[in-house]
Amino acid sequence: MSQLIKLSDNERAKKKALIEHLAIIMDGNGRWAKNRRLPRAIGHRKGLEAVRRVVTGSARMGVKYLTLFAFSTENWRRPAEEVSFLMDLFLIALGKEVRELHSNNIRLRIIGDRSVFGKVLIRAINDAEILTKDNSGLNLTIAANYGGRWDLVRAVNLMCADKALSGRGNYSEDDLNRFLSVSFAPDPDLFIRTGGEQRISNFLLWQMAYTEFFFTEELWPDFNENSLKQAIASFRKRKRRFGGVSSGVESEAVL
Ligand code: IPE
Ligand code: IPE
Ligand code: MG
Repeated sequence: MSQLIKLSDNERAKKKALIEHLAIIMDGNGRWAKNRRLPRAIGHRKGLEAVRRVVTGSARMGVKYLTLFAFSTENWRRPAEEVSFLMDLFLIALGKEVRELHSNNIRLRIIGDRSVFGKVLIRAINDAEILTKDNSGLNLTIAANYGGRWDLVRAVNLMCADKALSGRGNYSEDDLNRFLSVSFAPDPDLFIRTGGEQRISNFLLWQMAYTEFFFTEELWPDFNENSLKQAIASFRKRKRRFGGVSSGVESEAVL
């Protein structure tokens, strides 16, 4: 608090305009393919190219944490063929991209229930996390078999089982937050969803309490650095109040 007061208006505005954490629901791969009379799988493959563009663009724009929703706990409802294609694509992508991520100083984390994945995929995930764990650049997090409700229930169970906390009785928000799978990152500043749907679909339920939302009709495989810039420009025009009153300093004023 006192630190905030010490900042000049200019510094405060700059801080407000910064996107520390960007969270994205990458939606619309299937429709992108359908529009071209192609199998959905091709849409997913094209979607991977958009991931590359957004990782590069985010790093360039100073984003510190980028969290991408790749597979939800509800996506198992899809045809088995599509699910298995997505798992294979995930494994192939890890194999192909991890070295490049590492050479760009990117730290990769996977959140979600990985225990149900195949052994080879689990090993690839673990290896990628270990390889990149000391990197200090962009924190890239892929949410795979992730659900906001899954995360909350898991965190409650872990918190209740924690010996150091037991007997305390009255748990706080900070206590719970520590056990959530994205506890290493600040809450998202900006949430982007492509594909035209305007919903959270069980993504970061707890963390998005004060996140700014940006919805676009653009389908994920078409999303590029320019689309990212548009979303960020929209974010910079917003007045974030976090329940308080506006300071009168517009984040756009300095940028
Ligand atoms: C998002 O694209 C990717 C995943 C959920 C894995 P979709 O596959 O949901 O594409 P649409 O929504 O059917 O177009
Ligand atoms: C959200 O997209 C999940 C991911 C992008 C991984 P969905 O396509 O699964 O969401 P709904 O079913 O339209 O809500
Ligand atoms: Mg979808």
